[in-house]
Amino acid sequence: MPADLSPIDKAKFVAAKRAVDLIEDRMTVGLGTGSTAAWMVRCLAERVREEGLRVTGVPTSRRTAELARQLGVPITTLDDAKWLDMTIDGADEFDPALNLIKGGGAALLQEKIVATASDQMVVIADAAKEVTQLGAFPLPVEVIPFGWQTTKALVEEMLVAMDVMNRDVTLRMNGEAPLVTDEANYILDLHLKRIGNPRQLAMVLNQIPGVVENGLFIDICDIVVIGHGDGRVVLR
Ligand code: 5RP
Repeated sequence: MPADLSPIDKAKFVAAKRAVDLIEDRMTVGLGTGSTAAWMVRCLAERVREEGLRVTGVPTSRRTAELARQLGVPITTLDDAKWLDMTIDGADEFDPALNLIKGGGAALLQEKIVATASDQMVVIADAAKEVTQLGAFPLPVEVIPFGWQTTKALVEEMLVAMDVMNRDVTLRMNGEAPLVTDEANYILDLHLKRIGNPRQLAMVLNQIPGVVENGLFIDICDIVVIGHGDGRVVLR
């Protein structure tokens, strides 16, 4: 373990390391995005270097692709791989049913496509990501830039129709300009505080024209590897 890690980084590191131990020789693995996923890429690079593990990674963002390249993890595209043995990725929240909120790092679209194309999705998270009900973390929704204000209004109307109490919707910014995703879209963050029915919300959101995908991952995650600041790891 790298020296002098803060408890939060230690939690992320131990979760990432345990998940990387699940990777077998010749597997094709989806590489998630975010600070926890970055630890996973580092741990994977170590196994490639030191054990000669033969693995092909499918990155879920430009950032992750760049890190994998720098560290010598072989990568390919999803179109080339077509189907993956496993995806390992972080999450912003997970609930007791292993439903997730993702997209804090604005990579939810590629993350959902890659995870869905995998035999198994393994989530790596520090213990603070565990919740009894999703929604304290603002729900990211990726929308196309064309007419985004109309799409935002339609999302707000839908929240009213669903009797959602807290329904503040904000455009994610990058300084003075809207944040632009790897797929050249924008992100709306839905500040809902509590999501009563994540499955229904995920379906309804994706019916709205202009919405590309939402950050609710329902029935996609198979295992959560939870890291703690004292180095303990728990599997759910
Ligand atoms: C990126 C994601 C990340 O996996 C999620 O935001 C967790 O990030 P971190 O590991 O940095 O807390 O969904 O779109």
